[in-house]
Amino acid sequence: MSTAQTILVFNSTGQQGHATVQALSDLGKFKILAVTRDPSSESAKNLVNIPHVHVVKGEVGVHEHFFDQPIHGVFFVQMGFDIEAALKDIKSLLDISEKKGVRHVVFSGTDQCGHRDIGIGHPFLDAKKDVEDLLQGRKFDWTVLRPVGFMENFYKAPYKAQVTTTWLQSNHYKMISVVDIGRIAARVFAQPTEWTGKALNVAGDSLTPGEIVEVWKEVTGELLDDKEPPQFPPGFDSAMAFFTKNEFEASVEWTEQNFPGVMDLKTWLKSSNFAKA
Ligand SMILES: NC(=O)c1ccc[n+]([C@@H]2O[C@H](COP(=O)([O-])OP(=O)(O)OC[C@H]3O[C@@H](n4cnc5c(N)ncnc54)[C@H](OP(=O)(O)O)[C@@H]3O)[C@@H](O)[C@H]2O)c1
Repeated sequence: MSTAQTILVFNSTGQQGHATVQALSDLGKFKILAVTRDPSSESAKNLVNIPHVHVVKGEVGVHEHFFDQPIHGVFFVQMGFDIEAALKDIKSLLDISEKKGVRHVVFSGTDQCGHRDIGIGHPFLDAKKDVEDLLQGRKFDWTVLRPVGFMENFYKAPYKAQVTTTWLQSNHYKMISVVDIGRIAARVFAQPTEWTGKALNVAGDSLTPGEIVEVWKEVTGELLDDKEPPQFPPGFDSAMAFFTKNEFEASVEWTEQNFPGVMDLKTWLKSSNFAKA
C-alpha cells in the first residue's frame, strides 16, 4: 500500500494549479488529487497522464467529500467575482481542513506592491488579504505565496501591448512564470518547516519596459512596438492602472536565493511559443 502523502490541489486545470500538480508529481513523493469542476474538459484531460495524479470532481465550496480520506496538504487560489461567496467557501474549506487534520495549506494570492493594509482598490484583489487573514490562528501550518505578474500574461494581447504604451520607463516591472509558482508551491510542501507561517513575495525578473523590448527582440526576433494602449474590461482597468504605477515588492535576488532556478524573462521566453524557431 502506498504511504505517499496526499495533496489536494484546487483550481488544478488553471495556470498555477496545473503547474503545481506537475511540480508535485516531479518530486515523486506525493499522491496528488487534482480538483476540477469538469473532469471531462480538455484541460482536465491534460492532467490525467501525469504520474501520481488523480483527477477528481469538485471545487472550493464543494469540497467535503475529499476529506473522507487523510489529506496532508491543500493548495488553492482565489476565484469568483462574488467575493462574499468566495470567502465563505474558502472559510468552509479551511474549517474542514483544520477539523480533519490537514498539516499544511498553501494559498497563492498576489504581491500587493506594499499596499496590503491600504488596499489596491480592486475588490477581487483586495480580498486576497481577507483570505490571508482567514489562515491565521489555525491548527494547520500555512504558507502564502504572493506572486508578481505572470510572464504567461504576455500570451494575452492586452497585457503585451502595455509594455510600449502605458508602462513607465522609470519603473521596473516584476514578473514570474506560473511554472515557477508551481515549483515553489511544491518545494513549500516538501520542506514545510522552512516556509511555515510565512508570506513569500516571489519574482523571477524585474525589468524596465526598454529592457523588456530588448530581451524580447533578442529571443523572439519580434520588435514590441504597440502604439495603442490596450483596453481592459471596466473595473479591471483601474487595477491595471495601479500595477502600471506601483512596483511589486518581491525581490528577484531573494527568490533566486531561496528557490534557485527561478526563470528570468529571457529564459522563460526561450521556453515559450514566442521563441524563434
Ligand atoms: N495574472 C497575473 O499576473 C496574476 C498575478 C498574481 C496573482 N494572480 C491571481 O491568480 C489567480 C488566478 O490563478 P490562475 O491564473 O492560476 O487561474 P486560472 O488559470 O484562471 O484557472 C483557475 C481554475 O480554477 C477553476 N475555477 C474554480 N472556480 C472558478 C470560477 N469561479 N471561475 C473560473 N474558474 C474557476 C477553473 O477550473 P475548472 O473549470 O477545471 O474547475 C480554472 O481552470 C487570481 O486570483 C489572480 O488574481 C494573477
